[in-house]
Amino acid sequence: MRIGMLTGGGDCPGLNAVIRAVVRKGTFHYDDEFVGFVEGWRGLLEDRTTELSLATVGGILPRGGTILRTSRTNPAKRPDGLQQCAENLKKHGCDALIAIGGDDTLSVAQKLFDMGVKVIGVPKTIDNDLSGTDFTFGFDTAVNVATGAIDRVHTTAEAHNRVIVVEVMGRDSGWIATYSGIAGGADVILIPEIPFDIDQVAELIRQRHSRGRYFSIVVAAEGATFAGGNVEDGAAGRDEFGHVRLGGIGALVASEIEKRTGFESRSVVLGHIQRGGSPSAFDRVLATRYGLGAIDMAHRGEFGHMAALRGNKIVSVPLAEAIASNRKVDKEILDASIGILDKLDFKIPKTS
Ligand code: F6P
Repeated sequence: MRIGMLTGGGDCPGLNAVIRAVVRKGTFHYDDEFVGFVEGWRGLLEDRTTELSLATVGGILPRGGTILRTSRTNPAKRPDGLQQCAENLKKHGCDALIAIGGDDTLSVAQKLFDMGVKVIGVPKTIDNDLSGTDFTFGFDTAVNVATGAIDRVHTTAEAHNRVIVVEVMGRDSGWIATYSGIAGGADVILIPEIPFDIDQVAELIRQRHSRGRYFSIVVAAEGATFAGGNVEDGAAGRDEFGHVRLGGIGALVASEIEKRTGFESRSVVLGHIQRGGSPSAFDRVLATRYGLGAIDMAHRGEFGHMAALRGNKIVSVPLAEAIASNRKVDKEILDASIGILDKLDFKIPKTS
């Protein structure tokens, strides 16, 4: 087979591991040939390609980013954009396309599949908010980076008697905040799934400090919202998929906590540090398994599907299932995060 491949949306540790696995298994086991389209859908739209072979994927396994580069271009927003993509695939003699991306990239893949293009998806996002799969690759690395950062601010918060708010990524779901909050021993975790009451957050911190603690760590997902809503920052702008650029909730929360408690507060935004650099061993293995799954699916003719992780098995699920809705933090994980946190109005039992 001759197979096109692209990576779309935000970059993510493990993208290169997927590309490498597809090319290696395709070349060694199926005699496939590959065409790389650069910068996500933009490359397919504008017919810009790069060589994908055993030689060009050599040494990329531990590297972050993506050798194919990426963009948030949405061909469905361009006149005849989808048609142009289909024609360029034909022009390069591609029998199929492997699209590696999150819900935006895979929603375009679904549209192309509906037009008759043979597409396979691979689930990517550090946010872990894609349906149809238990984990996306990149998430584990992001959680490790965020946990390391929480450990570091812990020592400075403790040294200065401060409240420090760590803002992590997570536009619609609080997976990174919840996992890194549990792993880093945060005192408050704020996620998009549950709008928070800032008075309660401040009171919880005040009570914690009245029990003898003199510092606190708050982890806030970038998409977390005040009960009653955030003030929209109209200057932030939107991408071609309609997403507003987020950021700033951490600073707002820190300043409101300081106002209410009088405790000196600071905030840090981890931002793209979470997406950059080398993938964790877990993500290298998961991304490799997704790549192997995707090339096998292409040869089994399972188009319009995405490689997915269920339990510890790589399976094939319809793209439609993956993009149907945003995956929220599981109840069990949510309960774990609530179970380990301080409880409001808790009274320390008297010891005799
Ligand atoms: O990849 C998803 C994501 O990490 C979101 O959490 C975040 O809002 C967004 O990417 C930021 O993307 P950009 O790199 O376009 O600023």
